Amino acid sequence: MRSKLILGNWKMHFTVKQAVSFAGKLAAKPIPEGVTVGVIPHALALSEIATLLQKTGLKLGAQNAYFQDEGAFTGEISMPMLRGIAKYVLVGHSERRHIFHESNELIRHKVAAAVRSGIIPVLCIGETLVERQHYHTKQVLTDQLVSGIADLTSEEVAKIVVAYEPDWAISDGKSFAKHDVATPEDAQKSSDIIRSNISELYGQEVAKKVKVLYGGSANPDNAAAFLKCDGIDGLLPGGASLNMATFWPMVEIAATTVPTKINVKK
Ligand code: 13P
Repeated sequence: MRSKLILGNWKMHFTVKQAVSFAGKLAAKPIPEGVTVGVIPHALALSEIATLLQKTGLKLGAQNAYFQDEGAFTGEISMPMLRGIAKYVLVGHSERRHIFHESNELIRHKVAAAVRSGIIPVLCIGETLVERQHYHTKQVLTDQLVSGIADLTSEEVAKIVVAYEPDWAISDGKSFAKHDVATPEDAQKSSDIIRSNISELYGQEVAKKVKVLYGGSANPDNAAAFLKCDGIDGLLPGGASLNMATFWPMVEIAATTVPTKINVKK
């Protein structure tokens, strides 16, 4: 059985001091068995938090990195620079795709670069509201996924994490009430799309091993419903990861929720 993974994407929040202080509080909590927990602060806080987290169970991820190893790329950090600091790196987050215009091609290079550096890419895929309204979800997820992992071997694909993050369900970090949230059926359907594509291209065993997370207004009120889907192995909350009162209950829910197969309409 795949273990559970809860990763808090802090996005562009917290000063370095605040980030380090919050990471310290989280690192002091006992992590329940069967759950891996990580935080993903902005790049400036990574190095100090990495030092703080040594010898603790809390994992660290980066929000972004470029695919070239080094060179004249002002403002970027590279995957080799993250080596020894971050275990995970987000790639293809919808905010990177839509605000910073990252293409499927760039994302494919970043996924491959992360793997080359021994960092686990968390490949984020998801459709926009317009794509959903036009029933293009399956095609969009397939395109983003298949293109994102195209340069990897099957052994490498088995070790990555894929996060289904529908663009229309992502909060502004302050409120989950202003927009729709995906249903567990949406999450299960997406996980089925992800695994069936991987199965077709890399085999069933690889498809079974890949971890699939749900992200998009995940919070303690809906965490259990998502974690009950047997295709969903964890959560990638944004807004709800910014404080202990909303983040840690999701870790506890992950430890106690037993997944069951839910049937969804194709
Ligand atoms: P919210 O949980 O704030 O909707 O953010 C989700 C997300 O984008 C995580 O990467």
